[in-house]
Amino acid sequence: MSILIFDSGIGGLTILREVRVALPGRRIVYLGDDAGFPYGEWQEEALVPRIVSLFEQSLEAYTPELAIVACNTASTMILPALRDRFDIPFVGTVPAIKPATTYSASGLVSVLATPGTIQRRMVQELISDHANMVKVKLVGSTGLARLAEEHMQGLQIDQQKLASEIAPCFVEEGGQRTDIVVLGCTHYPFLVHEMRKRAPWPVDWIEPAEAIARRALDLIGPKPPVDPREALSDIALMTAGSPSPQLARLLGGFGLLPADRPFKLEKSG
Ligand code: DGL
Repeated sequence: MSILIFDSGIGGLTILREVRVALPGRRIVYLGDDAGFPYGEWQEEALVPRIVSLFEQSLEAYTPELAIVACNTASTMILPALRDRFDIPFVGTVPAIKPATTYSASGLVSVLATPGTIQRRMVQELISDHANMVKVKLVGSTGLARLAEEHMQGLQIDQQKLASEIAPCFVEEGGQRTDIVVLGCTHYPFLVHEMRKRAPWPVDWIEPAEAIARRALDLIGPKPPVDPREALSDIALMTAGSPSPQLARLLGGFGLLPADRPFKLEKSG
């Protein structure tokens, strides 16, 4: 049995590394909709049927015991549709607003995410349910997910752009400064060292990967030992087809063999 991890690109790999720690020995099927990347500016009406159709095709082919939607932009819109349509358990990814509000000493927290995520009702609800005692600033970034893709594939990234994308997160108000930035997109932890270097002052950068892996473990439990000779390789299914040599190298570094599976893709909207 396997676990399916889904994202628009390579962002879900930040969740995969924690899943390997919490659930060793499970086969991972990684599904990256790189043909649809970036999700941040897609309209909901087009993206929901596209993702449902991708899950239909992959769940039928690989029958995973659990799926992780390792993408905030997708999770904040599609989880109810996936849970209605399929029988397996789903774990979603949402910005870690609740822990951030607990840890903030200054009372100023920023959430850095895609433009899609910051508009979702689910994010507004997380703020009104958990963040009464702090001030939350939502910062929508149009370029950081792509910078993370470039960075992880060995390209030089535009440091100026990175600095200007994170700048609105840093707020000074009433003698206080932002002390927590919530990384509300699974791509961003790959850039955290670069972000640290460009930050006007030190902050804590919070991401939910470990909590998501623990939730998956709670739902399906530790796996009984299997004979390693019977174990199947972990694979990556990328909707754009055969990955470039750089992407294949990156996926290989995460222990994923590229697998060819032609997807029927719903049109972009
Ligand atoms: N990794 C995705 C997320 O967590 C989004 C990246 C994108 O497609 O824009 O929101």
